[in-house]
Amino acid sequence: MLHSWVRWVALVLGVVTTMAALVDRGASSPGAPGALGAKSAADRLGLFFMIVLDIQVLLGLLLYVALSPATALAFKDFGAAMRDPALRFWAVEHAATMLLAVILTHAGRVLARSARTPGSKRMRQIVCFGLATLAMIARTPWPGMAVNRPLFRV
Ligand code: HEM
Repeated sequence: MLHSWVRWVALVLGVVTTMAALVDRGASSPGAPGALGAKSAADRLGLFFMIVLDIQVLLGLLLYVALSPATALAFKDFGAAMRDPALRFWAVEHAATMLLAVILTHAGRVLARSARTPGSKRMRQIVCFGLATLAMIARTPWPGMAVNRPLFRV
């Protein structure tokens, strides 16, 4: 249930952080408040985005190795699970894509810090945070998909 609800925080932060980097006009003019070295809204939001994703990964790993009946079934015969779309989704596709999203978010923050110009810092944030958000949206089990879960768990 927690993993289901934290998904919304992660997705909203992903969208808001990417938008903040997109509209960060100050970052493209050196000397402005948003210039290299100064903390922008995208920097601050990116930190929260990364922390929430780290928590979500911890919860996901807990499900993956201990709590999920889907992955428990997949581990009984991994070869057979790869031929079953639902089991493959949980055992490989969801976990791998979400891990990629987390790596992109961490990379976005590290690359932004090491950028040489405000413009490249902003571009690195847009690409990394934007791709991380798209990856999360792509491999979330939305209602209506072949593998689906409720939007809100109660
Ligand atoms: C970081 C971003 C992630 C998001 C946004 C996300 C999102 C979700 C959502 C919405 C569900 C359905 C919850 C429900 O049952 O209502 C779910 C289930 C699950 N997730 Fe994630 N997840 C993420 C990361 C991960 C990672 C990294 C792993 C594994 C290493 C993982 C493993 C699982 C498992 C095993 C389930 C439960 C499958 C079942 O129903 O038995 N998740 N995730």
